[in-house]
Amino acid sequence: MKLLRLIANLGYGSRKQVAAMFREGLITNVDSEVLYADDVVEASNVLVEGEPLDPPPGILLMLHKPVGHTCSHKDQGRLVYDLLPPRFHVRKPALSSVGRLDRETSGLLLMTDEGALLHRIISPKSKLPKVYRATLAENLRGDEAATFASGTLMLESETTPLLPAELEVLGPREARLTLHEGRYHQVRRMFAAVGNHVESLHRERVGGLELDDLEAGQWRLLGEADLARLFAVPSAA
Ligand code: URA
Repeated sequence: MKLLRLIANLGYGSRKQVAAMFREGLITNVDSEVLYADDVVEASNVLVEGEPLDPPPGILLMLHKPVGHTCSHKDQGRLVYDLLPPRFHVRKPALSSVGRLDRETSGLLLMTDEGALLHRIISPKSKLPKVYRATLAENLRGDEAATFASGTLMLESETTPLLPAELEVLGPREARLTLHEGRYHQVRRMFAAVGNHVESLHRERVGGLELDDLEAGQWRLLGEADLARLFAVPSAA
C-alpha cells in the first residue's frame, strides 16, 4: 500500500493533511531520508516527525480494562478507547473489542482490527475458555458448582440451557468461574440464578492468555507468541 493511504488510514490526518506532511518532509525512513506519498515502504522503516509509525493494520492488543469504562465506540461516558492513543480511535480498519466486558467488570480485554481474527477468537469452535473472578454479596451455599456444571441451567428469557461451567470456590464470597461461551451479562446472571449477586467481577484469562502484570488502564500489543498462547487452551480449566 502506498504510504499516503497507509498513514492517512492510521489516523494521522486526512489524505490532504498527510500529503502536506509529506511535502514538509516530516515523513522519513529510519535513516532520516525523506519519503514520498507514493512510496511503498515497510511500516517498520517509517518515522513520522522522527517517531516510529503506529503499527500497521492487523493488530491485536490486550488491555487491562478498569471498572467504569465501556466497550463502546460512542457511549457518553468513559470508553475503553480513551485508554489507547487517540489515533487508535480513528484508524482504519477500526479497532474493536473482542466481545465485551460490562462497564463494572475489570480485567483482560482483547482488541483487534482484524475481523477474521476476532471471529476466530469468539467462535465456539475455538473453545477458548474465559475465566472470571467474582466477589459475591452473599456467602456461597455450596451447591452452585454442581448447578453451573450441570449443563441444564436456564437463564431468564433464554431458550437454551448454559453449557457446563466450572466453579472454583476461593472463599465464602469469592469464586473463580470458567465459561465456555459468552452470553449477555452471563456471570452476573448465573449468580443471580442461584440467589446471589456479583459485587465485583474481573476477567483473569481468555484461552491460554493472562493479563500479565499490566496495571488497570494499561495495554500492550500482542505478538505471535501471545497468539499461540491465546489458542493453546489448557486442557483442565
Ligand atoms: N459476564 C458478565 O456478567 N459480565 C461481563 O462483563 C462478562 C461476563
